[in-house]
Amino acid sequence: MEPTSIANAPLANLDEWEDDLLRRYPDPESIATGKSTEEYRNYEDPARDTVKEFYRLNHQYQTFDFVQEKRAEYLKFDKKEMAIWDAFDFLNQLVDDSDPDTDLDQLQHLLQTSEAIRRDGHPDWMVLTGLMHDLGKVLCLFGEPQWAVVGDTFPVGCAYSDKIVYPEFFSLNPDSKNPTYQTKLGIYEPNCGLRKVFMSWGHDEYIYQMMKDYLPEEGLYMLRYHSFYAWHREGEYEHLLDDHDRAMLPWVKLFNPYDLYSKNPEQPDWNKLKPYYQSLVEKYLPVKLKF
Ligand SMILES: [Fe+2]
Ligand SMILES: [Fe+2]
Repeated sequence: MEPTSIANAPLANLDEWEDDLLRRYPDPESIATGKSTEEYRNYEDPARDTVKEFYRLNHQYQTFDFVQEKRAEYLKFDKKEMAIWDAFDFLNQLVDDSDPDTDLDQLQHLLQTSEAIRRDGHPDWMVLTGLMHDLGKVLCLFGEPQWAVVGDTFPVGCAYSDKIVYPEFFSLNPDSKNPTYQTKLGIYEPNCGLRKVFMSWGHDEYIYQMMKDYLPEEGLYMLRYHSFYAWHREGEYEHLLDDHDRAMLPWVKLFNPYDLYSKNPEQPDWNKLKPYYQSLVEKYLPVKLKF
C-alpha cells in the first residue's frame, strides 16, 4: 500500500532530520566548551516522533527496485535547466513549513557550510562543495516524499547494518524478505568499491551525479556520501570498500562537521559574499545546470 500524502511528510521541516543528527552526533567542541547542543535547537519529544516516523517510511520504502526506478527517472537530468542562482532560489521554496522565523532557509545553510570551510583555509573546490552539497533537496520540489530525499543513506541489495538509525524498521522493507539481498554481501563482490554499490535514493546521489564532471574526486565523495553515517561515522560496510574508498574516507569525515556544526543564527551577508561565489561558480561550473 502506498503511504498517504500526510504520511509521506512526517517532518514539519526537512531540517528536523538534520537536527536529529545533531542529537545523535553532538558537536565535540560544544561538549568541550560546556555548551549544550540545545543551542542549536531544542529537541522536543514530538519532533523525535516525527523523525522516527520519517525513518519508518524511509526504511520501509527504500527498496532496491525503488532505487533503480528513481535513478532511471532522475539521472537523465531532463526535468529542468537552471542557472545556479535560480536553482538556489528554487531550492529556497522549501522553506515554508513550521516556523519560518527561526529556520534558516536552505541557501543560508549552504552558505554557512561553505563559509566555515573557507574560513578554515580549505581549497576552493571544497568551499564550492559546501555550497552545493544540499542542492539535491530540490527533489522535494519535483514531488518526491521526504523519505526519498533526506535521511541517512545506506546500501541496498545487501544486508542492512544494525548501526543504521532505527534498524528495526528494515523488517518492513520487502527486501528484508529477499534472500539474495540479505546475505552480508548481497549482490556485490567482496571489496567491490562503493562506486559499484547502490545507495538508498536521496539528495546525495542526485547532486553527486549532477556535479560529477565538475569537481575533484574528493569533493565528489563528500557530496555522494555525506549522509552515509553508517560508513563515515560508524565504520560499517568494510566488506564493500576498496582502497580508493579508504583513501577518500578522511575527506568525507573532514566535510561532515562543516555540514553538521556550522548552523548558526547569524546569517551570512549574501550581498557581500556574492562576488566571491560568483567567480567560484564560474571557475568550476557551467552557466546552467541540468536537473
Ligand atoms: Fe545533506
Ligand atoms: Fe547539509
